[in-house]
Amino acid sequence: MASLLLPFLVSLIIFHNFQHTSSFSLSVEKDVIVSSPEGTFTAGFHPVGENAYCFAIWYTQPPRTVVWMANRDQPVNGKRSTLSLLGVGNLVLTDADQFQVWSTNTLTSSKQVQLRLYDTGNLVLLNNSNGFVLWQSFDFPTDTLLPNQPLRKTTNLVSSISGTNYSSGYYRLFFDFENVLRLMYQGPRVTSVYWPFAWLQNNNFGNNGNGRSTFNDTRVVLLDDFGRVVSSDNFTFTTSDYGTVLRRRLTLDHDGNVRLYSIKDGEDNWKVSGQFRPQPCFIHGICGPNSYCTNQPTSGRKCICLPGHRWVDSEDWSQGCIPNFQPWCSNNSTEQESHFLQLPEMDFYGYDYALYQNHTYQRCVNLCSRLCECKGFQHSYSKEGGDIGQCYLKTQLLNGHRSGGFSGAFFLRLPLSLQDYDDRAILNNSNVLVCEGEVKVLERPYVEEKENAFVKFMLWFAIALGGIEFVIFFLVWCLLFKNDADKEAYVLAVETGFRKFSYSELKQATKGFSDEIGRGGGGTVYKGLLSDNRVVAIKRLHEVANQGESEFLAEVSIIGRLNHMNLIGMLGYCAEGKYRLLVYEYMENGSLAQNLSSSSNVLDWSKRYNIALGTARGLAYLHEECLEWILHCDIKPQNILLDSDYQPKVADFGLSKLLNRNNLDNSTFSTIRGTRGYMAPEWVFNLPITSKVDVYSYGIVVLEMITGRSPTTGVQITEIEAKSPHHERLVTWVREKRKKGSEMGSSWVNQIVDPALGSDYDMNKMEMLATMALECVEEEKDVRPTMSHVAERLQSHEHDS
Ligand SMILES: *[C@@H]1O[C@H](CO)[C@@H](O)[C@H](O)[C@H]1NC(C)=O
Ligand SMILES: *[C@@H]1O[C@H](CO)[C@@H](O)[C@H](O)[C@H]1NC(C)=O
Ligand SMILES: *[C@@H]1O[C@H](CO)[C@@H](O)[C@H](O)[C@H]1NC(C)=O
Ligand SMILES: *[C@@H]1O[C@H](CO)[C@@H](O)[C@H](O)[C@H]1NC(C)=O
Ligand SMILES: *[C@@H]1O[C@H](CO)[C@@H](O)[C@H](O)[C@H]1NC(C)=O
Ligand SMILES: *[C@@H]1O[C@H](CO)[C@@H](O)[C@H](O)[C@H]1NC(C)=O
Ligand SMILES: *[C@@H]1O[C@H](CO)[C@@H](O)[C@H](O)[C@H]1NC(C)=O
Ligand SMILES: *[C@@H]1O[C@H](CO)[C@@H](O)[C@H](O)[C@H]1NC(C)=O
Repeated sequence: MASLLLPFLVSLIIFHNFQHTSSFSLSVEKDVIVSSPEGTFTAGFHPVGENAYCFAIWYTQPPRTVVWMANRDQPVNGKRSTLSLLGVGNLVLTDADQFQVWSTNTLTSSKQVQLRLYDTGNLVLLNNSNGFVLWQSFDFPTDTLLPNQPLRKTTNLVSSISGTNYSSGYYRLFFDFENVLRLMYQGPRVTSVYWPFAWLQNNNFGNNGNGRSTFNDTRVVLLDDFGRVVSSDNFTFTTSDYGTVLRRRLTLDHDGNVRLYSIKDGEDNWKVSGQFRPQPCFIHGICGPNSYCTNQPTSGRKCICLPGHRWVDSEDWSQGCIPNFQPWCSNNSTEQESHFLQLPEMDFYGYDYALYQNHTYQRCVNLCSRLCECKGFQHSYSKEGGDIGQCYLKTQLLNGHRSGGFSGAFFLRLPLSLQDYDDRAILNNSNVLVCEGEVKVLERPYVEEKENAFVKFMLWFAIALGGIEFVIFFLVWCLLFKNDADKEAYVLAVETGFRKFSYSELKQATKGFSDEIGRGGGGTVYKGLLSDNRVVAIKRLHEVANQGESEFLAEVSIIGRLNHMNLIGMLGYCAEGKYRLLVYEYMENGSLAQNLSSSSNVLDWSKRYNIALGTARGLAYLHEECLEWILHCDIKPQNILLDSDYQPKVADFGLSKLLNRNNLDNSTFSTIRGTRGYMAPEWVFNLPITSKVDVYSYGIVVLEMITGRSPTTGVQITEIEAKSPHHERLVTWVREKRKKGSEMGSSWVNQIVDPALGSDYDMNKMEMLATMALECVEEEKDVRPTMSHVAERLQSHEHDS
């Protein structure tokens, strides 16, 4: 009966597992969207390039206006990408079914998590039973604030790169440490706050930069439905259409200006109803050094190189321009005669080298010419008009802009050879770029799903068989267990003799968790005595909040089904409230690690060989005989336990991720697993994780058993530095010994064997074991043997002598 039931149970458990890993899911392909109750907002996948999508929220009414994005800096592929609400309450965005790109990082044990899009544009993940908000998009704005969405001390708005590229750009709106709401340019090389300007304090620029209070540390700014912005630093801004309730938004645009937009029903364009900085050229960072900003009604804002200069990178204005002539201050420049080109209405804000009052133009020229770093000067009177004025020498030309009404001029220092520049030519400069509007193709690849005929067949087979068995099972069930309250536990018991324990039962068995026998693998292990007098090891797992009971049960029942003499047997589990415990058979002789480090009771050679063989068998079973579902991922001496006969049993295997055969070549692990010293290079170099990671760790363990040296400590070699990040000093040391040995024709094995073994070992078997261990730790995973191959080889030599 039990064997007949197995396929049915397998399919039941698999189904169970899927159901609970994903309780809600949106797919990029199906163009499914979520609408707010009144339809004001829509959430879904928004295309940001060819085959590139971001999960976004937008105003439903055309034109589609994106107000929030989950993954603005990491778009996902247009195929097989999904947004899923996991059973643990985490909202996760997965790229092409391969890796997680974004998540809300929320965890809850509540089964009642709901995702809702409100008509305010807020996407909320909430505990449905008590209305507690686990996460909301309003707390993570991108470049837009919606009415009644506060911007607080912990958040800021970040502009997008351009009108067509939604990635994070260089401008921020934020509260600084003085509690003042500011705009800042934070470029690759220059950081500069440009709003409010200190020097605007006494200026009549409306309320910009005026009367900011530094005393209110609430740090919150809010746009209301009527169109007024109120900030805790006493900054207020009223839109031109203030007073009516309209669809509105406040956006930090890609040009660094904050604009307020509104749109009426039936209109098809957003209207700017206010902007924080009226002059776009006062925004810093747009135009790099030696260039200046102009803003013309027809063409908008542009950057232009100063005469005699050229772009560093014509694709990126912010990098500025470099001179076409020998720079001042180079070895030759002293011979260059200076010529000063007048650039009317031009100003370079900040970075004054010196200020000289009441100087004539000619005195300014002389001062600048004598200073090799001087690149020019600002003179508050024009050459023609007056003679006495203020003279600002500049050694850096940043934040340049032309603006009407500036009553001075800038005089640019150029070599005499370039004096032919006509002053007006700069207005005619065609050195202007348009670098927007290009959309790049996302090049992140995704793997086509391979049809696996065998797996498909097995699945159908299991379903068919399961169907038949279900009928039989159901009849038996009805006859025998009509009133069984704990059906789930019984189902598992039928299958494996594996049962559910209550927490109090285990607490009693361990005498209140008093006898700790080990730690690691996500939990603490205690010795316990069950009521039927069986001695057991009880592992109490930490970090259980991220796993619901049914999910835990699904995993545990798979582990519970694995029966192999070299795998630790699981007798049962407990899942009650926040407690998750696993009950294992007790191993008299502790772990391999304890035995290797103990000096009193040394493992002899035959025991060590036997441990290597048994461990290989256990792993081969995990990898291959159960459809290669399970990788251990944390093979180390602490996880190899020894029973009363020193037979090894691999422990802690189910706690690593369970792998489906189809997924083996994709890296489905987002975080590194394993233990330093035993980890395969694939983890470090982010290569696909296969069963060969266990082969590598196994090879290290065997080397450790042979040499008695730990890969993490106790290697007394100074000449071999830890070159690679995955700690291969032990491996390197053994390889060196083998290389030297073969060169000198002497035995290398003698030199690596653990001195504690004395000479009590078989030389040929030892050499075979050591050679095989070195094969297991090859850098290239395909060169490493499989675990079953290792087991076969060790077995064939077992009785050699
Ligand atoms: C969700 O609500 C239920 C019922 O009020 C409560 O027991 C549970 O602790 C809540 N979970 C979270 C994460 O707030
Ligand atoms: C805030 O601004 C108002 C006028 O706009 C002014 O009367 C008031 O004193 C200001 N408060 C502070 C704390 O600066
Ligand atoms: C600080 O700002 C908040 C939000 O604007 C306001 O409610 C509060 O009254 C202010 N506190 C003081 C002391 O002005
Ligand atoms: C100036 O000349 C000296 C010696 O010829 C040389 O070492 C140095 O690099 C030169 N400096 C510049 C800025 O060209
Ligand atoms: C200095 O000037 C001479 C001649 O004008 C030129 O050959 C040489 O390359 C210049 N030196 C440097 C460092 O540019
Ligand atoms: C500049 O000249 C004005 C009048 O011409 C005079 O009042 C002032 O003191 C002078 N400043 C300096 C620094 O000499
Ligand atoms: C502006 O450029 C055009 C063509 O590039 C040229 O014909 C014209 O003379 C220039 N005007 C000035 C004032 O330099
Ligand atoms: C957007 O800009 C970022 C940063 O410059 C760039 O890496 C990305 O490829 C761009 N995306 C698109 C779709 O053009």
